[in-house]
Amino acid sequence: MKRDQWSSNFGFLMAAAGSAVGLGNLWKFPYIAGMNGGGVFLIIYLLLLILLGAPILLTEMAIGRSSRLNAIDACKAIAPKWGFVGGMGVIGAFFILCYYSVIGGWVLKYFFKYIVSSEIKEPEQYFESFTSSVAEPIAWHVIFAAIVVFIVIRGISGGIEKVSKIFLPLLAAFIVLIAVNGMLLPGSFEGVKFILKPDFSHIKSAGDFFGIVLSAMGQVFFSLSLGMGTLITYGSYLSKDSNLMTNSLYIPLFDLIIALAACFAVMPAVFAFGLEPSAGSGLIFKTLPHVFANMKFGRILAVIFFLLVLFAAITSAISLLEVIASYLIDRMNWHRITASVVPAAAFTAIGCLASLSFGKLSHIKIFGSSIFDFLSEFPDKILMPIGGFFLCILAGYIWGMPNFEKEVTSGGKYTFHFKRLTGFLIKIFAPLMIVIIFFASFI
Ligand code: TRP
Repeated sequence: MKRDQWSSNFGFLMAAAGSAVGLGNLWKFPYIAGMNGGGVFLIIYLLLLILLGAPILLTEMAIGRSSRLNAIDACKAIAPKWGFVGGMGVIGAFFILCYYSVIGGWVLKYFFKYIVSSEIKEPEQYFESFTSSVAEPIAWHVIFAAIVVFIVIRGISGGIEKVSKIFLPLLAAFIVLIAVNGMLLPGSFEGVKFILKPDFSHIKSAGDFFGIVLSAMGQVFFSLSLGMGTLITYGSYLSKDSNLMTNSLYIPLFDLIIALAACFAVMPAVFAFGLEPSAGSGLIFKTLPHVFANMKFGRILAVIFFLLVLFAAITSAISLLEVIASYLIDRMNWHRITASVVPAAAFTAIGCLASLSFGKLSHIKIFGSSIFDFLSEFPDKILMPIGGFFLCILAGYIWGMPNFEKEVTSGGKYTFHFKRLTGFLIKIFAPLMIVIIFFASFI
């Protein structure tokens, strides 16, 4: 059977950026930046995005395209014993899907809530009582998972690419609209200051500084979808005509713009209404309903906003499921339908437990965390850094720079800008940073 391919580099870019832009940008970035000193976090994030994010992204795409295989077999093609690097990605993608789909369900619920009623009264209680109930969040989670499977079944160019090409430009346009609308609110200037002004009073010791670097690195990996084989998988459907180097610059740039726009959409409004910027993971669900309730056209903006978050979550979730599906298709010779539905049924079932861990099953702890938190911490804190580390070693030392260069330049067709810098970043800087930060996170 002929392997599916992106119909154009633009289609790939939209899909890869669609994978990157997700709940990580719209839901996580604003509050992580908020809790880590605003502007200081932003500077460190920017540095790590350039020094770690872009080169690792390039590495993943190059490994994927050179082998034209799923994440596990792509690593094996370089070194037969190194399939485990891709294997950790497949497992990690599965873990992330379990809880990502639960949050996707919440977003779906809020979207429909604003369609049927004009506002959400007492958003805090509303959020708590919704997430801790049994049937409703599970039902939305199942619907979200069904949408994701449906798209993955349709394949690369006919499913994932089509959806991303429509959703992503829409998302970019609307998020800017909401950001501008938020900044026009009286009192919103405080929020802009909060995002942009480096607040060094947060850094009192080396430990504080390190904490910020740690959060920033985690956010770079998560936001760019790195270390889980996503870009290896997407890269494997890419034509040799595509310029990997420029792709590895466009995707982080786009991801950054959306993350910043999300900050400008959320923070000024939070300040204008005197809400708490470090409200954490409930930020958009608990505080934004206040904001929409007090805004002109609030209900319409709310519908648009949650629809955007929904788009972003869907295009990210499909990239995670594709990592698993492509392995089952290549290796097990499964039909695409089976390869999408079977893992989806499994993550949906475990996701139900994750959903219940906000209510009925809140007493169950795995290594001290709730089921939901465990599912998110295990890939973030263990699989992602280990995967990222071995990926750099695999590409930098075993595959080697000459092979790497051949792939990046498409056999001499394109120039490999920053070749020596990239080599240094992949062979030395990135693995070293990851090791330091990984061990520091245990202390
Ligand atoms: N990047 C997505 C977000 O920001 C989430 C995501 C999709 C992801 N694929 C991934 C995270 C692979 C890590 C690895 O929400």
